[in-house]
Amino acid sequence: TQVVFVASEAAPFAKTGGLADVAGSLPKALNSKKINVKVFMPLHIKISPTYKEQMKFIGYTTVNMGWRTQYVGLMTLNYDGVDYYFIDNEFYFKRHALYGEGDDGERYIFFCKAVLAAIKMTGEKPDIIHTNDWHAASINVLLDYYSRQDPFYQGIKTVFTIHNLRYQGVFDPYIMGDLLNLPYEYYNEERLKFYENINILKGGIVFSDHVTTVSKSYAHEITYPYFGENLDGVINKYKDKLTGIVNGIDYDIYSPETDVNIPVNFDFQTVDRKREIKNHLQVKFGLPVDPDIPMLAMVTRLADMKGLDLMQHILEELLDMDVQLVILGTGEQHYENMFRYFQYRYPHKLAARIYFDQYESHAIYAGADLFLMPSLFEPCGLSQLIALRYGTIPIVRQIGGLKDTVIPYNKYTGEGNGFGFTNYNAHELLFTIKDALGYYKDKAIWLSLMEQAMAADNSWEKSSKEYLQVYEKVLGREI
Ligand code: GLC
Repeated sequence: TQVVFVASEAAPFAKTGGLADVAGSLPKALNSKKINVKVFMPLHIKISPTYKEQMKFIGYTTVNMGWRTQYVGLMTLNYDGVDYYFIDNEFYFKRHALYGEGDDGERYIFFCKAVLAAIKMTGEKPDIIHTNDWHAASINVLLDYYSRQDPFYQGIKTVFTIHNLRYQGVFDPYIMGDLLNLPYEYYNEERLKFYENINILKGGIVFSDHVTTVSKSYAHEITYPYFGENLDGVINKYKDKLTGIVNGIDYDIYSPETDVNIPVNFDFQTVDRKREIKNHLQVKFGLPVDPDIPMLAMVTRLADMKGLDLMQHILEELLDMDVQLVILGTGEQHYENMFRYFQYRYPHKLAARIYFDQYESHAIYAGADLFLMPSLFEPCGLSQLIALRYGTIPIVRQIGGLKDTVIPYNKYTGEGNGFGFTNYNAHELLFTIKDALGYYKDKAIWLSLMEQAMAADNSWEKSSKEYLQVYEKVLGREI
């Protein structure tokens, strides 16, 4: 069975968020004797030359974009056992940022057309095309149209995965005729129309054989207006073809026993070595060196959805306590500045690392005691899975994927691997932090929390099987 997996980013080539981690690890987990998964993504300019130099040129074709004929170069690289295919076009992908350019709509419609053209050029017809997020979702719509004109595209099944419902690709309707080149009959409420615009993610939902999202709770939540981002109506309509499958993480990258990015390796038997990593962080970040001060951490995009307004509200109260807080990430400027300011006021308590660094991120996941994720909404979340793996206890808002992967500590039964709160309320977060810190002082309880965290299985093992079931369902046969 041949699957083409399409995403706008994939680690380690280009990454702005969790989508890249999934696109860089799920295909590897799915690949077997019975199924071959190829990944298609744009040849973004910022992909490292180390990879570019190893790529092989396959060939080129063209697609029409409005009045322009655009070049579609196809490059390939086998990485970690998976065949990656890169769509080369400098007009669209020689850009500083992956997203946020004025012509994102055009760029990613091009990408989708190019993928379909490139597949045809190779002559290898896939059984399934699996697209991810709105950037790839035009494929689902185009395939509906192409399959009625061109036998090559007939019978290809589609799966569409939503990693974040908030980003939908909403554009002026002229794009539909001019760039997607679809006839007017696609512009109605049942198809692409969304208020007075077109909505590409909506098209992805409407025109897929199956839709998945990245946790069971999120799949349920988005059927309601509160989490539905104005698409709950459409989601409800197609509920029967929607499945929630929780993400996994790549244990080859995230394992405290073998991770080459951390100063010392450890497992549960040697979990005491976490203190050496904490010590390393304290020295590096200029924080007082003391193994007993609880260290809280966030490794995150500094975006609203990550609950940073809650942090803003309680930061002063939190830093007046006997804690250390480490922040790693970039994003919205007011949050970057907020953390810089509080670092200036509390230099012995807050380390604000306003950039991203792979090596530092692993050390923080491994060396901190507690990991904060108070998200407003969270389709899955990967950071809490990484934290758990390294025995760093997550404090999360109990929604979406956070609810499905973090089990709040129950003092009566001793079960649990983290702490949770429900309402999007800053002082409920602060209360939960204080509650957790109370248990932190109890060595035996903390040890059992770390043990249960590290024992949780969040590899792709189970979830990749659920994707296989979805594939079997759309194919109507066993793989
Ligand atoms: C998006 C979501 C995040 C999810 C990731 C991968 O970044 O916000 O919750 O884990 O996609 O699916």
